[in-house]
Amino acid sequence: MFKGRAVEIAGIGAYAPEKVLSNFDLEKIVETNDEWITTRTGIKERRIASEDMATSDMMTKAAEVAIKRANIDISQIQLIIGCTVTPDMMFPSSAALVGKNLGIKNAGAFDIEAACSGFLYGLSIGSQFIASGTMDTILVVAGEKLSSIVNWEDRSTCVLFGDGAGAAILRPGKEGHGILNFHMEADGNFGEALKMPAGGSAMPASEKTVAEKLHSVKMDGREVFRQAVTKMPESALISINEIGMKVEDIDWFIPHQANIRIIDSAAKKLGIPKEKTIVNLQKYGNTSSASLPLALNEAIEDGTIKDGDTILLTAIGGGLAWGSMILKWGHKE
Ligand code: UT7
Repeated sequence: MFKGRAVEIAGIGAYAPEKVLSNFDLEKIVETNDEWITTRTGIKERRIASEDMATSDMMTKAAEVAIKRANIDISQIQLIIGCTVTPDMMFPSSAALVGKNLGIKNAGAFDIEAACSGFLYGLSIGSQFIASGTMDTILVVAGEKLSSIVNWEDRSTCVLFGDGAGAAILRPGKEGHGILNFHMEADGNFGEALKMPAGGSAMPASEKTVAEKLHSVKMDGREVFRQAVTKMPESALISINEIGMKVEDIDWFIPHQANIRIIDSAAKKLGIPKEKTIVNLQKYGNTSSASLPLALNEAIEDGTIKDGDTILLTAIGGGLAWGSMILKWGHKE
């Protein structure tokens, strides 16, 4: 359960590359069609980063917006938490590269790897430094260039993913506002269900791993689907119940944007109506850790979410790792 000083998102930002890849474009690449992709996933198009744009570049663009909206100076940032499964390199961390791009000095920087739950985990971790009084200003930045690890010959995965980034500045908040609670859980027994097999210490890169396309996403879609529709609502209820709230207290439900069928099922299990569920996966596909900030940012920008609204976030992805967060939007004067 969340304890300590109140922590708010003082500024949020997002970035999506300009290039749009539609379902119709994909029909020309693999044996698929708009009807299958739309009915099985809800996705209509996704964004693809240019060759010279790495994850840290997208993260930097999102972070610039968040910093501006938080009305802070970069010299105030004490820690950068990067969330990604597609870092620029195995090391250094993408967070450190974002720091370099932004000209941030004297701040700590590291990446966490919690796949699609990355942003939730990053916010949860960052919140603790502020809740404890150790720090005052933290940049949490999530970004993915999933197009770089997709096997463009595998129709069961390549139609699902897209590129993008999102960022949040965490600051001490108004009592009773900001991050009210969070829950994190993972089960490595499901690790095989969603992975990129090669390139790590278990299977270093070799001619064989490249030839067999093992540097790309492998997913047991049905298993991940089964776990997603169970774990996301379970986690959401833990976060809600622990702080004595009720599902009816939730104004906006923002689930990980992977599949409209998973979102509908999770919302139904929780008893949250469609009108309160925020969906933008038709435009971006599954952007892993960038999915939640892209959706949250859009809902703030278009005025859907207003000061005082209570938001429920939930995600699941590789690990399998999942979690949830309750957020009361609003800012300290
Ligand atoms: O970000 C982490 C979280 N990830 C997720 O939440 C993903 C979870 N899983 C899913 O969203 C779904 O399982 C998928 C969208 C990946 C797949 O949907 P599905 O309803 O589980 O389809 P399926 O894998 O059972 O495949 C059904 C059929 C198969 O054909 P047969 O064997 O029935 O003849 C596939 O070969 O659909 C075929 N298929 C396709 N057909 C056209 C698979 N991909 C495609 C495609 N276009 N792109």
